[in-house]
Parts: sequence; C-alpha cells; structure tokens
Amino acid sequence: MTDTQTTNAATMRAMGERAQQKIDALAAISADPDRLTRLYLTPEHKRAAKLVGSWMDEAGLSVRMDAAGTMRGVLPPGRPGRSGNKTLLIGSHIDTVIDGGRYDGNLGVVVGLLAVEALKARGETLPFAVEILAFGDEEGVRYPVTLTSSAVAAGVFDPATLDQKDRSGTTLRDALVAFGGDPAALAGEAFQPSSVLGYLEVHIEQGPVLERINAPLGVVTAIASQSRHRIRIRGEAGHAGTVPMAMRRDALVAASELIVGIEAIARKDRKNALVATVGEIEALPGASNVIPAEVRLSLDVRAASDEARREAVAAILSLARKTEAVRQVALTFETVLEKPVAACGRRMMAAIQEGASRVMGKPAQTLLSGAGHDGLSMVRLCEYGMIFVRCRGGISHNPAEFVTIDDMGAAVEGLVETILALARQEDDQ
Ligand code: GLV
Ligand code: MN
Ligand code: MN
Repeated sequence: MTDTQTTNAATMRAMGERAQQKIDALAAISADPDRLTRLYLTPEHKRAAKLVGSWMDEAGLSVRMDAAGTMRGVLPPGRPGRSGNKTLLIGSHIDTVIDGGRYDGNLGVVVGLLAVEALKARGETLPFAVEILAFGDEEGVRYPVTLTSSAVAAGVFDPATLDQKDRSGTTLRDALVAFGGDPAALAGEAFQPSSVLGYLEVHIEQGPVLERINAPLGVVTAIASQSRHRIRIRGEAGHAGTVPMAMRRDALVAASELIVGIEAIARKDRKNALVATVGEIEALPGASNVIPAEVRLSLDVRAASDEARREAVAAILSLARKTEAVRQVALTFETVLEKPVAACGRRMMAAIQEGASRVMGKPAQTLLSGAGHDGLSMVRLCEYGMIFVRCRGGISHNPAEFVTIDDMGAAVEGLVETILALARQEDDQ
C-alpha cells in the first residue's frame, strides 16, 4: 500500500467508527426497551430528530425542524456556482419498522452529516448549498400512506391524507400537531424545483448483490414499481363447537386460501422481480371459540416494471373474486398507494459512479432497488440518485441488519467524492 492509500484507509476507518457511534446512539431511541421501533410522529421520533438536530448544529449547519417533522440542516455555498448556487439535498429517514435494524434509513442521515463534516475539515468549498434532511416517514408503518415527510419537501403531499388514522384512531393531522408540526404550513415547506440541484441518498442495499460481488458500494438505477392495498373479507361469526364445517362462512379460511394464491401468482413471474407480500392480518372478533367473521389484510406488490405490477394486481384481484364466490364471503379490495418505477437521474448516477469507483478502485455495480425510498417522492421534485451500501446477508427489516465499520467509512468517502464530482460538473458547465 502507498502512503496515500494507508492514510485514506485510516481516515475511512475513523469515519466508519464515527458513523457506528452515531448509529448506536440513534438505535438506543426506541418505543420498546428490547427492540428497535421508532414510528413517525411518536415521542421516540422526536428524540431521534432532536439528536440529529444537535449533530447538525455541531457540524456548523443552520438547523430547523420543518412542519412535517423533518430535521433540516443547511451548509451554505462556499463559492459562486455557474448555475446560481442551487441546493444539493442529501437525506434519508430516521423512522424504523417494528423490531427493525439500526442501519435502514439512519445510516443515510449519519453518512450525509459525516460527509459534510469531512468536506469542511478538508477545506473544500462547494459551488452549491448542501441541505441534509432527516425524514420521519419512509416506512409507512403507522399510517397507510407513506413518505409523508419527503412528499412535503417535494411539494407533492396530498392534504387528504391528513385524515388518515393510525390503529389507535389518531389522525395524521392530530399526530402532527402533538409532535410540534403544523398541518397548515405543509404546502409552504416544498422546495422550488429551480432552486434544487438534485437529491442524493445513501442507503443499505437490503439485498444480497453487493455482498455476492464483494463490493462495499453500488449505484442504484431505479426504485421498483410498488402498490399497497387493503383487503377486507366478511364472513359470518358462529359457535366454534356447533356450526358444522360445511355450513361455515369462515373469513380467515378464505383469507388463508387467498394468501397462498397470492404467493403462487408472485412466484410465477421470474422476469420482472415481482414480489407480493401479505404482511398484516387481523381476524375479528378474535376468540378461540368463535368462527372468524371478518379478516383485514395488507397487500404489498412490487416489480421492475409498472406493467408487470399492474398485471399481478389484476390477477390477484381476479383470484380474490373467485375466493369470494367459492367461500361465500364479501370481499373489498382497496388500493391505498401506487408508485410507478422511479428512475434515477443520469447526472446523479454518473457522479455516484465516479465517486464510488474512486473509493473502490473499480467500477461500481448498478442495481434496481426493490425497497421503497424517499426518492419515490423526491423524483417528482428533481433528479435523484442513490448509493447502496453492502449489508451482511442482505438482511434488513430485521434486528440482525449489519454493516461493517469499513463499509460505513467507504460510504462516507463515496458520498464525499460524489459531491465533489457534482461540484466539478457544476464548474465545467
Ligand atoms: C420500505 O422500506 C419499503 O420498501 O417498504
Ligand atoms: Mn429505508
Ligand atoms: Mn425500511
């Protein structure tokens, strides 16, 4: 190894260690003592947002929490830019799933902050402002419609979703007010497209490809097409001891048949990265001696193309209608979210390729993201790009999620180099 490479390796290791400290500090903020659960607009979310705000402050950024609960920190431009001092947005999310891992989302916020710190420490000046965004609602666990915070920033938030309720009956509007946000001020929080250079996000891959090819970083090409649905099946309650099997209209048995059928539909399509998941199920009234009268299911469908996803949803709906007839139940099928494939911007992908390959000493692999990200909102505001970071076994949405310190260091350096590549593009324009 040359002296420069040794220094770089030591610097990256130190940045990785700082990332780990911050990741661990955030992971300690949870609704549950023995697992990580941090949902949008909860007291835990507030504590995490405040901690991130204090780090932004220490990094010398001007900090504020916006009306949707997003923590924002701004580094002003260091020198004039040819296209007039736009803002480069860098962000990810600090909410988690229930019993989640510590790196999903949180890593992107931490890496963004550390990259800005590194640029400042190295005396780099940029011809654009950088704004770090810590979004609060990427997972969409608390409310059916997700990406609220990034939709607000992108100017695509639908105010009708303020009436949505969580499981306890609290509307998004009330939760926002209790958190210290302001439903009336959401529209004013949108960035102007003309003032934004682009949006960058660092995120764990949540899949096995980078590990398989032994690369710490990858370049995302697009986020898969996704829809979320709610299925409600109504049968008839009855006595578990007295109603003969042939005379039952058991909503849970109908749901079971449907779930197995949904799996079969998704397994049939191998070309389009089609996946379908029933992740939530509620059986009512929910007693061991009562035949289930009603079942509520969630359904999440994703694919590499909008057409493949739509075809799968149509096949699932037709299966649902057959189940309804055969099982003599009443079924409703509602679409609560529909996001087309979100392609990354060429300029952002080129800068990431340049940055990641500088750090790795070889070209970076390109990948499709099956997971949803805040980029699904941000693509409606500006060009966006994503850097994926290798995670062990591709495991995510699981407490076993793991990223090495060295890979986190590589992610910070990769982002620094990506930002510098964008600054060079800006100078060359
Ligand atoms: C978020 O992680 C999603 O892809 O659902
Ligand atoms: Mn995520
Ligand atoms: Mn996630």
